[in-house]
Amino acid sequence: MDTRFTLNNGTTIPALGLGTWQSSPGEVKNAVAHALKVGYKHIDCAFCYQNEDEVGEGLKEAFAAGVKREDIFITTKLWCTFHSRVEENLNMSLKSLGLDYVDLYLMHWPVPMNPHGNHPLFPKLPDGSRDLVKDWNYVDTYKQMEKLLSTGKVKAIGVANHSRPYLENLVSKVDVVPAVNQIENHPYLPQEEVVDFCHSKGIHVTAYSPFGSTGGPLMQEEGVQNIAQKHAVSAGTVLLSYNVARGNSVLPKSVTPSRIEENKNIIKLDQSEVDELNEIHKKKGITRYVYPPFGVSPNTFAFLEPTR
Ligand SMILES: NC(=O)c1ccc[n+]([C@@H]2O[C@H](COP(=O)([O-])OP(=O)(O)OC[C@H]3O[C@@H](n4cnc5c(N)ncnc54)[C@H](OP(=O)(O)O)[C@@H]3O)[C@@H](O)[C@H]2O)c1
Repeated sequence: MDTRFTLNNGTTIPALGLGTWQSSPGEVKNAVAHALKVGYKHIDCAFCYQNEDEVGEGLKEAFAAGVKREDIFITTKLWCTFHSRVEENLNMSLKSLGLDYVDLYLMHWPVPMNPHGNHPLFPKLPDGSRDLVKDWNYVDTYKQMEKLLSTGKVKAIGVANHSRPYLENLVSKVDVVPAVNQIENHPYLPQEEVVDFCHSKGIHVTAYSPFGSTGGPLMQEEGVQNIAQKHAVSAGTVLLSYNVARGNSVLPKSVTPSRIEENKNIIKLDQSEVDELNEIHKKKGITRYVYPPFGVSPNTFAFLEPTR
């Protein structure tokens, strides 16, 4: 629970963070306040989750109860319709969260979307496809993020949902190597190639959707259940411990106080158990699990292959 990983800017990130995606209004304030009360040190937020105001209320309650800002780690993310307006989007998140700075600011996807489309967050073209901006490059977005470091409003910058080609292109063109790549990661989608590449470049990996997201079958998976029984822990504990054993921080989402507490339980898994969990997706032939919000995997965005 108290494990931390060192980032390439010299700061540390707590191994365990509370996820807030799909945490509804009326629930997320209490979830954040409860998590911080029971010892979580890391909250994962995003502008596009549309609940940062209420996350901010949860933070306020925690601060009033004695939690110190400098003892916790807050992540938030730049949304796709703001790629050309990075600082503006950061300011909106800071205002909602009631903070002067975040510990980590991530580019949510390397996919710019039309800032003047038919929806402020998820614009679509008349044919129903996503309204993407094809003449704006995510490298330029990241260069705007680099400038934030001197403002004091972000302690570290990084990316999310970046495949290896996107990362290779990015690191060859920017001054600051991303501190983090936040990606979907669990035994159905271990993304070993991306994880290994990140580790080779000093980029920390944070695993999202560690339970395979809401409603997924991963908790019932036989290979996960077997290891849970062996250690007399829950399937959730195995899934969180799997990522920590691989050197990744991990973001379970819950709005249920008992589960928020249960998810603090991280155990030590040995390499053979990690290998066993890594085999599950191969046996099942799973290549992509949680569907991204763009209709196809970012890895297959041929027209968005990094070119400059
Ligand atoms: N960067 C990105 O693009 C991105 C994408 C997706 C997610 N994320 C981040 O990662 C976080 C986690 O991912 P996620 O929300 O997709 O899903 P998840 O954490 O894999 O799963 C959440 C689901 O598991 C349930 N749950 C939580 N703890 C449990 C336990 N101990 N036993 C049984 N069920 C449990 C939750 O229910 P209750 O809430 O009802 O308890 C919820 O339905 C997000 O909230 C977000 O912060 C980032």
